[in-house]
Amino acid sequence: MFDEIIDRDGTHALKLERYKDYKEAIPAWVADMDFKSPQCVIDALKKRIEHGVFGYTAVNDKLIESAVNFIRQEHGWDTKKEWFVFTSGVVASLNIACGMLKENESAVTTTPIYPYFLSAPLNMNREVTAVRMREIENRWSVDFDEFERSIKPNCRLILLCNPYNPGGTVFTKEELLKIAQIALKYDLLICSDEIHADLVLSKIAKHIPIASLSSEIADRTITLMSPSKTFNIAGLQSSFAVISNEKLKAAFEKSMGHINGGVNLLALTAAQAAYEGGGVWLKEVKKYLRENLKLIQEFIQNNPKLKLLKLEATYLAWIDCRALGTDAWKLFIKGGVILNDGKSFGEGGEGFVRLNFAMPRAVLKEVLARMEHAIRI
Ligand SMILES: Cc1ncc(COP(=O)(O)O)c(C=O)c1O
Repeated sequence: MFDEIIDRDGTHALKLERYKDYKEAIPAWVADMDFKSPQCVIDALKKRIEHGVFGYTAVNDKLIESAVNFIRQEHGWDTKKEWFVFTSGVVASLNIACGMLKENESAVTTTPIYPYFLSAPLNMNREVTAVRMREIENRWSVDFDEFERSIKPNCRLILLCNPYNPGGTVFTKEELLKIAQIALKYDLLICSDEIHADLVLSKIAKHIPIASLSSEIADRTITLMSPSKTFNIAGLQSSFAVISNEKLKAAFEKSMGHINGGVNLLALTAAQAAYEGGGVWLKEVKKYLRENLKLIQEFIQNNPKLKLLKLEATYLAWIDCRALGTDAWKLFIKGGVILNDGKSFGEGGEGFVRLNFAMPRAVLKEVLARMEHAIRI
């Protein structure tokens, strides 16, 4: 099913639009998949569109129930309907969370990271400290002593990305407990972006929502989740925050105000269909992605100047190209592959590229062949 090569030309896909000048290059950058969404999602959208009236739409109980069930099934976390706030995107939610800070308060996060973690605080005129991710036992992680030392007196918010983008780390219970202890010690809120939670590829790693560690942690946590990466519906902008602390939820909603007034009705339709019926598709897509990842690992082994640490989740390979001694992003784009330039993920991203491998295997093979050729000439 995922082997089908679907022409996205004419759909204004961002993946194709941004680099129009490189017509012959294969886009392997922005984080969406070149696969069709589950059939149940397509059918639900068709049915809704056939209705023909597209007025303001409320979040319905059945949708929230489907999300509650999905989260329990996938992550063993028991949530309640009252904890959910739907928003039109996780990036919007990151900004909303930063908007909760007072004028003189700041946030702390890690770098390199999904760029909006660094821009969201700045959008709200709040300062952000970014602590470098470290290579620890062949995996991207955090030096927690360093992290703790970086907490400024005015810091009030930890922006956590778990699973981590870029790098694909799934933080262990021990690691999450360390973050939680720091949050408790310095009285910090946690905004945990868990958009990649359902895409754990490792058979050993398990995604743990940080809010599920204890009620004390949940009390200070805003968890951001979404079906958009999981079921490839990113263009519909479907997401929600899960906040068990009533006061914190009210503060989040206040910060949201009318900026994020309503949620797109098709986003709601697709989310419910995906959570109710997308389970088998999700298993299959993860299996396919695992096989694609193996191809990338083989490619890295054959090209010793490239390095890839353990990737536990996401379909985004964070490749260290520093040993090439050249601008790798430019080298590969000239070679016919459009990747994400590591520089765009902030300090520490220089010399890296990010390869999106959620594509039919035949296309991925061509991508890797082109990259290999680009390195060797
Ligand atoms: C960590 C992370 N958060 C958020 C997003 C985007 O979320 P949304 O499209 O819901 O705004 C992405 C997309 O790649 C991501 O990797």
